[in-house]
Amino acid sequence: GRTAVVTGAAAGIGGGVADLLVELGATVVGLDRDAAALDAAVARHAGAPGRLVPMTVDVADPAALDDAARRVRDEHGGLDAVVCAAGVQRYGTVDETDPATYAEVMGVNVGGAFHTCRTMIPLVRANGGGAVVVVSSAQAYATQRGVAAYTASKTALLGLARAMAVDHAADGIRVNSVSPGSVDTPMLRWAAGLFAGDRPADEVVAEWGRAHALGRVATPREVAEVVEFLLGDRASFVTGADVKVDGGLSARLAAALP
Ligand code: NAI
Repeated sequence: GRTAVVTGAAAGIGGGVADLLVELGATVVGLDRDAAALDAAVARHAGAPGRLVPMTVDVADPAALDDAARRVRDEHGGLDAVVCAAGVQRYGTVDETDPATYAEVMGVNVGGAFHTCRTMIPLVRANGGGAVVVVSSAQAYATQRGVAAYTASKTALLGLARAMAVDHAADGIRVNSVSPGSVDTPMLRWAAGLFAGDRPADEVVAEWGRAHALGRVATPREVAEVVEFLLGDRASFVTGADVKVDGGLSARLAAALP
């Protein structure tokens, strides 16, 4: 079976990717800073065709990723796939965002993907090739008010994926990104809670769903299916691409128009 590294594997989109790959028989090295949630994910996969190997790592820490890559090499040899899904969302206009928050968003979202790839791509190369998928966001294309640092980080990821696609094609490594619309994850629930006021968070999630042409938010599985396609041989001529998995969010001129 395949061996993959997935960051943010304990929950949300990364969790959905890990679940799908394990169901398909892969060995998934799941990197996440939430050790308890990782353990719960491992328990969920008891009896599955593949397995989830938990590694508690903060992807914002480059040295921790050097250690993780050494462990992956020693315990698993090469890698077929890398998926960078760990990320954080913070709100604020540029002048509302303090330097620590900016550093956190860029450090996790961009630095996390950069250093995951810096340390793991050599293991994919040693394997004779493979594929990388980076999780960007629909907010890399169009954004709302008050998401300055997050929008900057997600747009940077599109450039990083393209640069790696060009740099590593000769190593037999394809690199693509996905840009999801709203996905029902712990992050989305947390954000809905922030904006809910007196309303139930479910109502806010449903309202955000109606901004998408499909009229609802996605499940993590629906993003995972596209990631899995991009990782596999059926996508053998796809590199340097971004796939919008946004239910038509970015296709609409404005969510408020009929
Ligand atoms: P989530 O918060 O539900 O799950 C993220 C996982 O990553 C958690 O298990 C968390 O512990 C882990 N994580 C966070 N920071 C980490 C760090 N520094 N080191 C290691 N692990 C860390 O988030 P969700 O919604 O699954 O998002 C995943 C990715 O998808 C993020 O990059 C996010 O920006 C992106 N995205 C999410 C959308 C959504 O609507 N949920 C929409 C578009 C993009």
